[in-house]
Amino acid sequence: MKSIHTFKQCTSTIGTILPRRLTFTGARLTTTTSTSTNPAASVTGYALCSVNGCSFRFLGTSTRSTTRFVHELEKEDRSSHRLTTLHNHYRTLCFINSTPKRQMSQSSWTGPFGKDLVFRQLLEYKSYTYTYLLADADTNEAVIIDPVIETVDRDVKLVHDLGLKLIYAANTHVHADHVTGSGSIKKLIPTCKSVIAEVSKAKADVKVNEGDLIKFGKFKLEVRSTPGHTDGCITFVLHEKGLVFTGDALLIRGCGRTDFQQGNPGSLYDSIHKKILSLPQSFYVFPAHDYTGQTMSTVGEELRYNPRLTKPKNEFVEIMKNLNLPYPKQIDKALPANMVCGVFDVPESS
Ligand SMILES: [Fe+2]
Repeated sequence: MKSIHTFKQCTSTIGTILPRRLTFTGARLTTTTSTSTNPAASVTGYALCSVNGCSFRFLGTSTRSTTRFVHELEKEDRSSHRLTTLHNHYRTLCFINSTPKRQMSQSSWTGPFGKDLVFRQLLEYKSYTYTYLLADADTNEAVIIDPVIETVDRDVKLVHDLGLKLIYAANTHVHADHVTGSGSIKKLIPTCKSVIAEVSKAKADVKVNEGDLIKFGKFKLEVRSTPGHTDGCITFVLHEKGLVFTGDALLIRGCGRTDFQQGNPGSLYDSIHKKILSLPQSFYVFPAHDYTGQTMSTVGEELRYNPRLTKPKNEFVEIMKNLNLPYPKQIDKALPANMVCGVFDVPESS
């Protein structure tokens, strides 16, 4: 029997999107066992089926809706042996439905770094900012790194869709090119705490320093102080998965600018080499921005190909002093907002 690769999500209206005439060639319905480690075991009314090569995921929330779906199928073709099989499977599903409702496990769609870590990289395309959503798939505790105010609704919806408990909104630094989404997220998810480096002097619920750990479920992000772009820049390292979130310190084949805020090219060079490029070369680098469409790199790649960081320190400093970059468009709005909105205040115009 063929594996199912693609799914459509359906509710009790599923009957309306099925083909009018069903023959059930190769039909398959998969239900899950009731072991707690099974990805779908905690789902109330979860099933996969393939009908005529079309695949469906059925998310029923009650025995009634499951039965209704089966009834819709029966109306189409009562004589099909495969339908009978399907029906029997659904009776099993009904049994699962009768168990107490538990929160859906998202471990079946966690992302590329294993079944135990939810990972999402999200783009805000006005400032080319990457926001990262990480969660322990077992406890659902989640952290969002560098949210942007313009995309808070999208990010909060994703948190809800995946059934996550967002406990921290962590900022790698006081951004100059966009307003952080921390304040808006806290309004929508009051239990979420904002995080920023103590050195930044910005307001936040949690101020972190070198070596602190931001824990979510069984995972922990190690805080590494990486000044140079700003004094308060921090990098987060998820050692268990070999991931490093570098903010604006190390970018892909580049680095953060050092010509405003507390920029200092010498200290940026030291920060990147001592705190980031000293990690194992296999570690994945996830920056706060990319302006060329690249999404990730590795420590090994940047050690070898970063056109600035492969230079000696004195050459790096000269390069950084002569970039002649334009003044950031949103800096006048972003800096004052980011100094406070980690707590509550969000500019009305944003
Ligand atoms: Fe920045």
